[in-house]
Amino acid sequence: MSSTIGTLFKVSTFGESHGKGVGAIVDGCPAQLELTEADLQPQLDRRRPGQNKLTTPRQESDTVTILSGIENGKTLGTPIGLFVPNQDQRPKDYQAMADIPRPSHADYTYRVKYGITTASGGGRASARETIGRVAAGAIAEKFLQHRYGVEIIAYVSSVGTITAGPVNFESITRPEVDATLIRCPDHGAAEKMATLVAAVRDEKDSVGGIITCVIRGAPAGWGDPVFDKLEARLAQAMLSLPATKGFEIGSGFAGTALRGSQHNDLFVAQRTKLTTATNQSGGVQGGISNGTPIIFRVAFKPPATIGKAQDTVDYSGQAVRLEAKGRHDPCVVPRAVPIVEAMTALILADCALLQQAYQITSSLR
Ligand SMILES: Cc1cc2nc3c(=O)[nH]c(=O)nc-3n(C[C@H](O)[C@H](O)[C@H](O)COP(=O)(O)O)c2cc1C
Repeated sequence: MSSTIGTLFKVSTFGESHGKGVGAIVDGCPAQLELTEADLQPQLDRRRPGQNKLTTPRQESDTVTILSGIENGKTLGTPIGLFVPNQDQRPKDYQAMADIPRPSHADYTYRVKYGITTASGGGRASARETIGRVAAGAIAEKFLQHRYGVEIIAYVSSVGTITAGPVNFESITRPEVDATLIRCPDHGAAEKMATLVAAVRDEKDSVGGIITCVIRGAPAGWGDPVFDKLEARLAQAMLSLPATKGFEIGSGFAGTALRGSQHNDLFVAQRTKLTTATNQSGGVQGGISNGTPIIFRVAFKPPATIGKAQDTVDYSGQAVRLEAKGRHDPCVVPRAVPIVEAMTALILADCALLQQAYQITSSLR
């Protein structure tokens, strides 16, 4: 039932796709963090629709207003209200589909659960809901950068069957990711991915992809050992995103093909601490960060709404041929890159505050 995530750094999102607007309330952001709208807009611009020919043509500037919680460019420690108006609504596009649940979208399950659905555009199931997450995530990210020097960089590592070559996790930057429209730092693969997305779009079809995310600078000790393991919290955050179908950390599913002797990350001394020679663990062991880069991947399915004809049934069970209308993404991964970064930042900011609280309250250290 909840639209809220986090224990100490707590975020609630609100708003429907074709309503007045969308946004978030951020409760628990520490006071005296320097913050203005200019800190939030760059990630919203990377997420917004209509940015290029590979994304949905819906035109939205997605300009954010901070309604509360800030004075003279600094956070007050009080709830931060964030609002982005919806501008380019075309509810008429959805009238023809009012009686037909879109295959693999949320129309049917929302109707079963609530007995009522928004007349157009997927309501809360629309990717517009993620605007609040991205705006809030930018605040979390600023806090993490400022207090701990944490960097979060996501990129597109596959589209369909086209996969990027190896990427240097120690040095990859956002400008390198944004150098191609598809947001893949391997330029050869990026070109093939963009050609595939354009071809699929022209066929009125869609295609899926994978996003890889790397976190640098997270100290050892974040996360918890049992139900709130760091990888479990990241997985929950990522699988709460629309269109996600899988999560892997470190060696992931491929690690099952290795022997322990090949898979173990051997420890090596690094000044007063230990680090590891390899990173099959993906930076997390026993649910707790070990100080090496945290690396995970998120699988996104081909978006459900396609113009290509599909034989399905309407709500009354009558056979129909659906050719979906409206403006849709042929592939969500280029726009999902800042969304994955935002959810990562929200989880890490919460873990950072929880660890801070634990260290203050634990009497032995
Ligand atoms: C950035 C982004 C853009 C999306 N754009 C579309 C779209 O244009 N059309 C569509 O049918 N689904 C789109 N989706 C996915 C739907 O919101 C999602 O598939 C739907 O809510 C059903 O949820 P589920 O796929 O998680 O089961 C998008 C998702 C993301 C993350």
